[in-house]
Amino acid sequence: MTEQHTPWAEPYKIKMVEPLAMTTRAHRQKALEEAGYNTFLLKSEDVYIDLLTDSGTSAMSDRQWAGMMLGDEAYAGSRNFYNLEAAIQRYYGYKHVIPTHQGRGAENLISRILIKPGDIVPGNMYFTTTRLHQELSGGTFADIIIDEAHDPENLFPFKGNVDLKKLEALIEKHGAKKIPYVSIATTVNMAGGQPISLANMRALRELTNKHGIRIIHDMTRVAENAYMIQQLEPGHAHRSTAEIVHELCSLTDGATMSAKKDALVNIGGFMATNEWDVFEEARNQVVIYEGLHTYGGLAGRDMEAMAIGIAESVDEDHIRARVGQVAYLGEKLLDAGIPVVKPIGTHGVFLNAKAFLPHIPQTSFPAQALAAELYLDAGVRTMERGIVSAGRNKDTGENYMPELELVRLTIPRRVYTQAHMDVIAASVANVYRNRDKVKGLKMVYEPKYLRFFQARFEPLSA
Ligand code: F0G
Repeated sequence: MTEQHTPWAEPYKIKMVEPLAMTTRAHRQKALEEAGYNTFLLKSEDVYIDLLTDSGTSAMSDRQWAGMMLGDEAYAGSRNFYNLEAAIQRYYGYKHVIPTHQGRGAENLISRILIKPGDIVPGNMYFTTTRLHQELSGGTFADIIIDEAHDPENLFPFKGNVDLKKLEALIEKHGAKKIPYVSIATTVNMAGGQPISLANMRALRELTNKHGIRIIHDMTRVAENAYMIQQLEPGHAHRSTAEIVHELCSLTDGATMSAKKDALVNIGGFMATNEWDVFEEARNQVVIYEGLHTYGGLAGRDMEAMAIGIAESVDEDHIRARVGQVAYLGEKLLDAGIPVVKPIGTHGVFLNAKAFLPHIPQTSFPAQALAAELYLDAGVRTMERGIVSAGRNKDTGENYMPELELVRLTIPRRVYTQAHMDVIAASVANVYRNRDKVKGLKMVYEPKYLRFFQARFEPLSA
């Protein structure tokens, strides 16, 4: 481990480089128009610094690449599956493992297995794909995150916490039998990458045990969450990130994982459970949607890289530098007076578009417009996390109007340097200086599901 009195720095050196695309503003203007003002529809070769997502965008280590060469591409019972299973059991403690092609493959399985039509699924804020799978199985998502999470200015360090009173009220109203599980994300993406505290998880476990309700863990960024507990929650400073990760998992009954984030792979995920019956049903279903239960849509080499990435994700030097880099960018933007979600989250910095562009009403998509403008300014690609991402209420068809109207500057792991962070901060500051000129958008094409991925927009004239 590095000395704690020295600043964080990348705990690796660079052995291979990938040149970046440098473009002109005129080129970007054309690319943006062709993309319908949706950063998801830009070609990656037209992007300079890509902060669209931290999903599948990590740089793998030399050990992971070496592991790729040890792929055992057998249809059934590949050695890499057993290595992956052992890594999940060791680092996360779950008993049974089903690989899936990525996180939403696991969400599909768990939702089909556990949710019946009419069920309620409480969670610490929604995530787009997670909620959609719950709805497709006939469930209704209910938000039980603490109120502080909806306020970008609130400095509470654990804005991923569950409001236990909200959960108790739901149990009272619907009865425990209508609640197949509580869905808990570590960390909470849509709140700005905010962690849940261990104290809150323990209290939630106590309450759910009393009512015989499961906790299903969306553990996509569990190492980042554990690191924040180590740093900020009293009584845990002496514990390792790995130990805290293990305890967080132990407080839950099963999990879905997008290994494309914390676990440092470009593709992959899994479902895990401690219940034999759920595992058996998952083994039945996985062959319909993903592949055999020992590969779940992945090549053997992908499972090997994931097994190695899981171990690397809880390395103290890695996680300190990872979260440190995000905090570095966050501090720079705060110093420049830019409105961002506070405290700074672990996987990205989230601009508060309502405060950044107060002249654009939410129905004219201020976060979408801001993401487009950031791309135009210097070729930095970001993502809308506001009214477009929130979509429509499945029963009324009305747009959700989320409190948080955000642009996410998501930092891929081990990919960019501090100098890139400086460029990003300078570009955001430039757009902020000229914010009055940014105009709203109108949506001209709206897909039926997860519209943010493929929707198209045009600028409003006034
Ligand atoms: N849960 C969370 C908290 C996520 O952030 C994601 C993906 C998923 C589940 C679904 O996993 O993409 O592997 O199917 N988030 C990406 C993002 C897409 O950019 O935040 P997936």
